[in-house]
Amino acid sequence: MSSDLKLVTLEEAARVVGKTPHNIRDYIQRKRIGKYNEDGEPIARARNGELRVSLKELRIFLSLVEEGNEKHHWAGLHPELGFHGLPEYQRTKHVHRLHPYLGKFIPQLVEWFLSRHFKADDVILDPFMGSGTTLVQGNEMKMHTIGIDISPFNCLIARIKTAKYDVAKARAEILEVEKRVTQFSKFLIKADEANLSLFPEDRMEQLTQGLLEECNSEYLRAWFAPRALLEMLYYRRLIPHYHYQDLLRVVLSRAVRSSRLVPHYDLATPKEPLPVGKEYWCRKHNRYCVPIDNCITKIHAYSEDTARRLAEFDKLRSDQSVTVIQGDSREVNLKAELANTPIANRQISGIFTSPPYVGQIDYHEQHIYAYELFGFPRQDQLEIGPKKKGKSKQAQREYIEGIAAVFRSVLPLLQPDAKVFVVANDRFKLYPEIAQLGGLKVVEEFHRAVTKRTEQGDDPYQETIFMMMKDK
Ligand SMILES: C[S@@+](CC[C@H](N)C(=O)[O-])C[C@H]1O[C@@H](n2cnc3c(N)ncnc32)[C@H](O)[C@@H]1O
Repeated sequence: MSSDLKLVTLEEAARVVGKTPHNIRDYIQRKRIGKYNEDGEPIARARNGELRVSLKELRIFLSLVEEGNEKHHWAGLHPELGFHGLPEYQRTKHVHRLHPYLGKFIPQLVEWFLSRHFKADDVILDPFMGSGTTLVQGNEMKMHTIGIDISPFNCLIARIKTAKYDVAKARAEILEVEKRVTQFSKFLIKADEANLSLFPEDRMEQLTQGLLEECNSEYLRAWFAPRALLEMLYYRRLIPHYHYQDLLRVVLSRAVRSSRLVPHYDLATPKEPLPVGKEYWCRKHNRYCVPIDNCITKIHAYSEDTARRLAEFDKLRSDQSVTVIQGDSREVNLKAELANTPIANRQISGIFTSPPYVGQIDYHEQHIYAYELFGFPRQDQLEIGPKKKGKSKQAQREYIEGIAAVFRSVLPLLQPDAKVFVVANDRFKLYPEIAQLGGLKVVEEFHRAVTKRTEQGDDPYQETIFMMMKDK
């Protein structure tokens, strides 16, 4: 158990965080932190001497206070929605970790709401699908799911997470490509065990030259060491020979993302590439590091891992329909898109979604390496609320109109009592107006502390889950 996850008595907690036991008791009474027994089980009433608190929950709560985020004092954070202490491997279980994605919500949040408000065979829509978290969880709960996203790469991630595989064949393909690129890599570095019958020495020049000619991206040439670049180009060249091509693209893309010439601690938002071999102080590893110069290490790291995750989800998934639509949610003709699916003519039972937050993230740009490598068409200009447009009044206005237009566009397909859940960090208080313009009304709000949104660092902040319904 790490020191953070440790359960301690009130006296010990008070000593560690520099408060009094009375303070700690007060936090418990106001439901800011949970009550546990010595075995870590949540309890309603503690027997004599049994009461424990979690140091991690306590620290998160205090850091929210310290940030000046006073709202939680009176707004009340929902005690179950913090998912405090949920280990990393559960937040990123099975296919949820097939590719990193800035701005993902955790699957447990989706499960919590879907299990309370919907049932098997319902039709759930996520008009800001992102990497497909709602689709994966809805499918696991035997619901039909539909996702729409403007970014082709996000749609690719969502498709490969929710696709049905011949798991053994998918695994065999992933591992075969890994093996072939390994041979190529050994040949590149002239390793002793390189198999020269596969890559005769006199063909080396021709092969590497040919690969480089297939790369017309300035970005790729700048952000990768020469060896990494050749390895990824070789992998890319092999993909068309296999059945599960999109899956292989995602394995490669994940490896490529981690093979950029960037500091180890800055994979999510790197500013510029480091020179090959440049030493830097690494905040992640607490020592001097050099940027990675190859791609094969990461191909090894993610090949078996991907196959394992697919097999894990395959055991949990249902056969309900999953529909991924690439497009602008303001304009997609949902009825036409669903015409040839098993849910044609069905009404939508509800929405569970997390729209972009105004001025926070450029969703295409975060995966620029994949766009450059595979040449997917970019539609940045159709993103609602991108970071590059900022958070000005004007940007907020456009955001309000954009998100409301999405709700208006899907409204006719929602059943009359449909529930619409919208997860948002609404610090500018835009959602009451968005609901109104979108033909919805807010019927309930849940507040939760977000302590670790995958890939978004550890700074805690608060978000709201708005429950809306059609405004009749
Ligand atoms: C916060 S993310 C959703 C993350 C998702 N809940 C997950 O767990 O992966 C918001 C998504 O909205 C998408 N988006 C932005 N503008 C859009 C538009 N006009 N139409 C459809 N999707 C859009 C972005 O590409 C991004 O993937």
